[in-house]
Amino acid sequence: MHESSSLTQSAAWRALASHRDEIASVSMRDLFAADPARFERFSASGAGLLLDYSKNRIDARTLALLIELARSRGVEPARGAMFSGQRINNTEGRAVLHIALRNRGGEPVEVDGRDVMPEVRDVLQRMGDFAERVRDGRWRGYTGELITDVVNIGIGGSDLGPAMACQALSARAHARLRLHFVSNIDGDHLAGVLEKVDPATTLFVVASKTFTTIETMTNATSARRWFLAGGAGEADVAKHFVAVSTNAERVARFGIDLANMFGFWDWVGGRYSMWSAVGLPVALQVGREAFGELLDGAHAMDRHFVEAPLEENLPVILALLGVWYRGFFGATSLSIAPYAQALARLPAYLQQLEMESTGKSVTCDGRPVETPTCPVIWGEPGTNGQHAFFQLLHQGTDLVPVDFIASLTTSHGLAGHHRLLLANCIAQSKALMVGKTAEEVRAELASAGFSGEALEAAIPHRVFPGNRPSNTLLLPDLSPRSLGALVALYEHKVFVQSVIWGVNAFDQWGVELGKQIASRIDAELAGGTAGEHDGSTRGLIAAVRAAANAQERG
Ligand code: F6P
Repeated sequence: MHESSSLTQSAAWRALASHRDEIASVSMRDLFAADPARFERFSASGAGLLLDYSKNRIDARTLALLIELARSRGVEPARGAMFSGQRINNTEGRAVLHIALRNRGGEPVEVDGRDVMPEVRDVLQRMGDFAERVRDGRWRGYTGELITDVVNIGIGGSDLGPAMACQALSARAHARLRLHFVSNIDGDHLAGVLEKVDPATTLFVVASKTFTTIETMTNATSARRWFLAGGAGEADVAKHFVAVSTNAERVARFGIDLANMFGFWDWVGGRYSMWSAVGLPVALQVGREAFGELLDGAHAMDRHFVEAPLEENLPVILALLGVWYRGFFGATSLSIAPYAQALARLPAYLQQLEMESTGKSVTCDGRPVETPTCPVIWGEPGTNGQHAFFQLLHQGTDLVPVDFIASLTTSHGLAGHHRLLLANCIAQSKALMVGKTAEEVRAELASAGFSGEALEAAIPHRVFPGNRPSNTLLLPDLSPRSLGALVALYEHKVFVQSVIWGVNAFDQWGVELGKQIASRIDAELAGGTAGEHDGSTRGLIAAVRAAANAQERG
């Protein structure tokens, strides 16, 4: 299990705390001016990705102290424990082996002495076969027509990963297949998709690790009803509904033929599952081979995480910088700024990955954590964010570190766009770092013809404090391979942070209470006996019931 000794009393943490006082007044402008090799010193590559982390409030000593923190908190043995199938998810008694799903090297991966790779390869083979049959038209709907639409019904980890990846790889989409993702229990979501598709040519992928999630089961039941109402019979369901789950019993009970179920295992966490059968929509969209390339990219990052020295290890560096700002600069959030429209869903994906993993207040052994843990993760694609919330990033009162993510190349072929996109990406990280001093503003205004009181009054509004940190991640392209490496990078970053903070990155007890209360309130909204509630909950339930009654009356 992870390190259980005190984090804040450790020599490494204490050294960082006093170093923080030294570096607090140092500006990155000065650090760059003093060190022409700062970019070379504070950038690293792995699995084809380049990470520039030179625009951070660090110097060589900061990095050395942070690496020492990682070492003293046992990141290396913890990494070994994960990769060797130990049950590091202690509150659920499970191993954590998403790395086995993209183990392309042929080595065994064992849980309790049993190699899981034969099963992994078997499901991957079945997924690939199925995807290719749908794509090339051998798999058809009940009327014999080709499948034109695939609707993935799932939520959280059974939605965000494949939805994000399908959008990211849309440049390689199959010409006939349209992919849709329905997650919300709000009927508008499913209804909005159903009105666009034809039951005879639609394939539903019901994805749920547990096959008990209320949103997914409700949407899947409604989709099945809609399908049957379109004229198909019960026997036709098998051609139009497949399941992705770890729960064969529930899948069968729902009425999906187990021959059409793609399994995975309890050692795959929901938010770490896009490499498993949960990635079926991705395989349908881009094909078996490209799905394999996605796994290859993730595997390359796994190897980098295991083999690169901590000082050059991308996930370790990203994790440590996050711990630095969260623990010593009071940063409460991290903004993810993909300069790629194709990565529009990446911030939402990372929200679940990071916040469900390390949004914890107790350590693995149940003690209160000693420092803040996961920051709020949020973001939007650049350049849109620049015209919305970047004002706050530049001149707001909070320090918000930013991860800029861009692809060096593009496939759209529209002249000029990509160069401008990248110019903006680089410009934003530079502007955050250098800022603009009052003297610079004064000189600028003077040369624009301002003078006297008007000039002085204008200055404070135009000053940028600068010294605001960011990382820039450059991908060679938006290929499946690069995407796989990028996602695996963040997975391992989260793991490293969990080890340092001492929390379990693989459970999510915090989602349970709301689910329990919702099922009681649903029973009351349906007319059941009113439970004991606070005044607010009572008032809201009464308002909903009154509206439902009024709607019923006409
Ligand atoms: O409620 C949270 C959660 O359990 C996530 O961890 C998970 O990804 C999501 O719900 C969906 O769960 P399932 O795949 O079992 O439907």
